[in-house]
Amino acid sequence: MIKESFETIRMEDGKLILLDQRKLPGEVTYITAETVEDVYFAIKDMAVRGAPLIGSTAAYGTYFAARESHGKEEFEAKCNYLISARPTAVNLEWAVKRVMSIALSSSFNLERIAEEAERIRKEDIEANHMLSHYGSSLLKKDSNVLTHCNAGALATSGWGTALGVIKQAFLDGKIRHVYADETRPRLQGARLTSFELVDFRIPATLIPDSAAATLIRDGKIDAIIVGADRIASNGDTANKIGTFALSVMAKAYSVPLYIAAPTSTIDLSTPNGAEIPIEERSKYEVIDPLDCGMLIAPKDIEVYNPSFDVTPAENITAIITEKGIISKPFRDNIEELMGKVNS
Ligand code: MRU
Repeated sequence: MIKESFETIRMEDGKLILLDQRKLPGEVTYITAETVEDVYFAIKDMAVRGAPLIGSTAAYGTYFAARESHGKEEFEAKCNYLISARPTAVNLEWAVKRVMSIALSSSFNLERIAEEAERIRKEDIEANHMLSHYGSSLLKKDSNVLTHCNAGALATSGWGTALGVIKQAFLDGKIRHVYADETRPRLQGARLTSFELVDFRIPATLIPDSAAATLIRDGKIDAIIVGADRIASNGDTANKIGTFALSVMAKAYSVPLYIAAPTSTIDLSTPNGAEIPIEERSKYEVIDPLDCGMLIAPKDIEVYNPSFDVTPAENITAIITEKGIISKPFRDNIEELMGKVNS
């Protein structure tokens, strides 16, 4: 297994050490979280982000909730507070509920609760490597691929999902070139994906989001690979805003669009994309993108800033998970695969 050159999350002496992604790529610094409140703000303010990493961070947050609480009621209130930090990424709720069930069934045995959080972190890394091998098998030699947002090591407990597939395919000799959307407004593609691509020495070009359509039309892209924040049971997928537009272009020009995500991102209780809650974020992310007070638009302009959009299942070629590749018909095949996962 290849060692990551940076670590996003680790537990040390009862404290959670988190890579502060707001500072990247300029500074590689870590923050410490040791209360539910610390974890809530690390997720809400996007010091940590990316669905699987939000899940792992919240798992430890649930451990802190157990450590801080004086009874079941207080514990459950703190867990619900954690879940409210970001509504779209289902891994958050999934991880909190998984650790909660251990807390409740073990009468708040802190050692067992901490072990469950650690298990979630480790399983995430393993799942990413497994799905990356499946994803690589879908790509032809000399592929030019496009990705959106950051679904790499930085979005997970390690290695990555969509970018994990790209890294594995690069090691397998299948990647000619990667195009990374800068991903307005938080610039996860420019700040984070570029950082990882340079670190991994993969030939890559950063593009403004609006250049993707031209590249796709001109036949410069062989496959688009993105991550996911929530996959409904019919295959509709929420991911970073801009993914839907890419999917429309992909369909129009017959470019395969692959979603790479662990099965913890599949939400069987959500029947379709219309039911996925979409987070709207502050107008200042759009008018003050570097968070430095240098406004790029008048302060009083109205802003619409949804953080995610939903790509309809019909625009998706396949969903790559650690348990295998899900092809169409998605509803039946998701149900079958998740039946095996849950049994
Ligand atoms: O707002 P973010 O940075 O948390 O959004 C992240 C994404 O949309 C990722 O593509 C998704 O979480 C998958 S990460 C493996």
